[in-house]
Amino acid sequence: MVLAKRAAASKEVNLPTLTNLDEWGGVCRTGLFIELPPGFFDEIDVRWYRAIYEQLIPENGITAEIGCYRGRSMMCVADIIKAKSLTVWCIDVFEPFLSDRSTTRLQDFKETAEWYGIREHLKVVKGSSLEAAKFLDDASLDFVFLDGDHEASTVRKELELYEPKVKDSGWIGGHDYAYWPGVTLAVNEYYRDFAVLDYSSIWLRKKGGCHNADVL
Ligand SMILES: C[S@@+](CC[C@H](N)C(=O)[O-])C[C@H]1O[C@@H](n2cnc3c(N)ncnc32)[C@H](O)[C@@H]1O
Repeated sequence: MVLAKRAAASKEVNLPTLTNLDEWGGVCRTGLFIELPPGFFDEIDVRWYRAIYEQLIPENGITAEIGCYRGRSMMCVADIIKAKSLTVWCIDVFEPFLSDRSTTRLQDFKETAEWYGIREHLKVVKGSSLEAAKFLDDASLDFVFLDGDHEASTVRKELELYEPKVKDSGWIGGHDYAYWPGVTLAVNEYYRDFAVLDYSSIWLRKKGGCHNADVL
């Protein structure tokens, strides 16, 4: 929590604090939150993800999301993707998952992206994150978000494979820090200088280090 407050206050990170979250995005007021596809991203996650896309990703930037499920996290930033003309790698095995036994998730995801008007911005890859990394160029991403397999062994490999894909000026982060032991363990082992955004399980790190991080 201390880290997150410091990150939020830093000029470099410049994310909004919780007190001004209501002043940007207007997620709830526009009804966007209510219209989002089902998934595993709560209201605070949505607000922080929008803050990241709004404030940290440059125009024409390139990002990646690992673990898209039905597009809840992706579609919550659809308007920003369009406005900034971003390209997003959407990587998921798109196989039956937990209580969702659907075998049409890939097609459903593409149709959802059409509906939100961002299909042409997305490079959708059906496959494991570890396999998909080979499609991405080194130092090409402004941001990568890890929300796929939450086992420590997989997250460790994802960190190894995707960190080089991020530009020196870019960001790496993920979901479910402190919720899923595997995520927490792997991120703690890999980095010492990252922020956990207030009241959420989203961890975030600037490539090269968060200079304001408390643990340095
Ligand atoms: C927790 S869900 C993602 C939630 C999503 N971000 C949302 O907003 O609802 C995890 C997703 O990761 C995918 N997944 C699991 N293991 C994976 C792997 N090794 N590579 C790529 N995707 C994976 C699952 O198919 C599932 O869709």
